[in-house]
This record gives sequence, C-alpha cells and structure tokens, in this order.
Amino acid sequence: MDAQKPKNLQELIQMLHKIFKGDMINVEEVQELMESYKSNTQDWKKYAIFDQHRYTRNLVDEGNGKFNLIVLCWGEGHGSSIHDHSDSHCFMKILQGELKETLFDCPKGEDGEMNERSHRILENNSVAYINDSIGLHRIENVSHTEGSVSLHLYSPPFQTCHVFDQRTSHKNTAQMTFWSKYGERTPSQTAVSKENN
Ligand code: SIN
Repeated sequence: MDAQKPKNLQELIQMLHKIFKGDMINVEEVQELMESYKSNTQDWKKYAIFDQHRYTRNLVDEGNGKFNLIVLCWGEGHGSSIHDHSDSHCFMKILQGELKETLFDCPKGEDGEMNERSHRILENNSVAYINDSIGLHRIENVSHTEGSVSLHLYSPPFQTCHVFDQRTSHKNTAQMTFWSKYGERTPSQTAVSKENN
C-alpha cells in the first residue's frame, strides 16, 4: 500500500482510484487509507448540503465506475432505514460529529420483529465497514444540537437496495438518489429514499 497519508480529500480520492484499479479489494487497506485522511471541513464543505427534513446523499466521485464516493449530511435526529448494501462493500468515515450504527441480523422471512445485534457510536475520523454477509444496519445522528457529516464509499456502486421494517421484517426496494452531484444541487426527485424520518 502507498504508505503516504493523503493530505486532503483530493489526494485521498487519487489514492482510492489507484487501489480500485485492480479487481481485488483489500478491505483493511481501504479502511486504513480512509482512516489516515484527517477530516478538514475546507476539503468537503462544497459537498455538505443539508436538508432540514432528512439526511442527504451528495455524490463526490464515481471512481471510474469502480466505486461511488458520497458525502452524507445528517441533521439533528436524522437517520436511515434499516438497509442492506446490494452485495457491495460499504466503508463509512465520520467527517464531523458522531453517528450511531445499529446492526441487525438479516431476517429469514417476514417473521415479526428484527433481531438487533449491537450498536456503537462512530466518532470523528473513524471508519466503519459493512457488507451483506455481516448484516444490515441503521445509521442515525442522535445529537439534538449538532449535524453530522460522513464520507461513504460503495463498491461496486449500486442504484437500489432493500429497506426493512423493524417490527415486521417486511422488505422493500428503495432507489438511491443524490441530493447533489459534484457540489451542484440535483433537480428534485420523487423517488422513495431510505431515510426514516
Ligand atoms: C449507509 O449505507 O451506510 C448509509 C445510508 C445511505 O447510503 O443512504
């Protein structure tokens, strides 16, 4: 691995492009690289476009078709539905504030309440990893006073995922939409998002 630490988000993106050129993904390598970037608001503020009602997904880079890099902005109390990751890798770095991750077992059918396995608070600059063989998760900003910002890498990129009802385990398909692309607000869309507010 390139032992150099990325000095800014642009350098991190360049290094990610190098790593993802090959066909094999080394999860630890990606996680360590993303961790070695120390968040600087100046680098990502143009992508951090909040909405007062729900969390937003803001596309930063399409990784030559190998990954999507997305800044997610979570207002106070905003959270996602319980969801899977369409057989992709999901890396999630905290850029500002904290986020709560709750892990669930993947339900066998629609057989009542989903099993909550664990939860943890992800702190600034930490990087979490999940894929469908690990389980499902819900992400929330539980703060009443501070917005949170996170940087997500999904590989391969995906356009839909499954969302789950915690009480019934009922599964639906949700469309992944972008609130902005490359710092520019996208025209508003009516698709169902996977936020839970
Ligand atoms: C996640 O998958 O970890 C966050 C939710 C999203 O991408 O919308």
